[in-house]
Amino acid sequence: MDRQTLSDLAHADHPIAAPVSDVIVLDLLDRAIRRPDAHVLDLGCGEGAWLLRAVQAHEGVTATGVDISSAGFDRTLAEAARLGVGDRLDLVQQDVAEYRSPRKADVVLSIGAAYAFGELLPALAAARSHLAEDGVVLLGDCFWEREPDPAVRAELEDGPQKYVDLATMVARVVADGWTPVYGHVSTLAEWDDYQWSWTGSLAAWALDHPDHPDREQALTTSAAHRDSWLNGYRGVLGFVTLVLRPTP
Ligand SMILES: C[S@@+](CC[C@H](N)C(=O)[O-])C[C@H]1O[C@@H](n2cnc3c(N)ncnc32)[C@H](O)[C@@H]1O
Repeated sequence: MDRQTLSDLAHADHPIAAPVSDVIVLDLLDRAIRRPDAHVLDLGCGEGAWLLRAVQAHEGVTATGVDISSAGFDRTLAEAARLGVGDRLDLVQQDVAEYRSPRKADVVLSIGAAYAFGELLPALAAARSHLAEDGVVLLGDCFWEREPDPAVRAELEDGPQKYVDLATMVARVVADGWTPVYGHVSTLAEWDDYQWSWTGSLAAWALDHPDHPDREQALTTSAAHRDSWLNGYRGVLGFVTLVLRPTP
């Protein structure tokens, strides 16, 4: 079973692929969407869960999501159609680095997906290139809540993206020409809900499919993820979602 399929199964009960509750997702979207006909672009949209909520909660808003994987697109688009908002949601399978939007967006989302551009600041540069004048960026990413063990740091910083503490992260964003007009730091309860959902959905799928050839892989992946969370980065890795406007 490939990584995307595992991730798709793991997000069955928590389609938002970040430690952010539904209530907070709606609140953050309310804060970012400042006009009734706003266009929202999500760079690294996952299955499009943020955008489904945006078009559902904001009549008149249109949304485009871009992700390198189309896992979950069909499900989200079917749900959008069922809710009568399908004509306002478009999901595109493409590398975000290559995506050229036909129109500027009033709101650009990058939630847990800055790594698609390598790091936070290149992700913000990309967001800026897609943003209309007076636009708003919702940027969600990890930071170190506490200094991690070297092993935990090595495990979670295995790509180009390195994390810093919250104050340093926000200072870098401000120095890059952005003004935070709001921010939400995910609570431990949001993290726990996300991680128990991730590991639990995958484990439950394996238990429900005793004859599936990928059952063992799903159980092993779930247990390894749970172990790495509970014995490693629980309470150490933080997640913040910033509502940003360009500093004039
Ligand atoms: C942690 S998930 C977050 C998904 C979504 N923003 C959410 O909060 O539900 C990160 C997403 O970035 C996508 N991604 C990673 N690299 C990408 C790239 N180069 N182009 C487009 N999407 C990418 C992954 O496929 C994944 O869906």
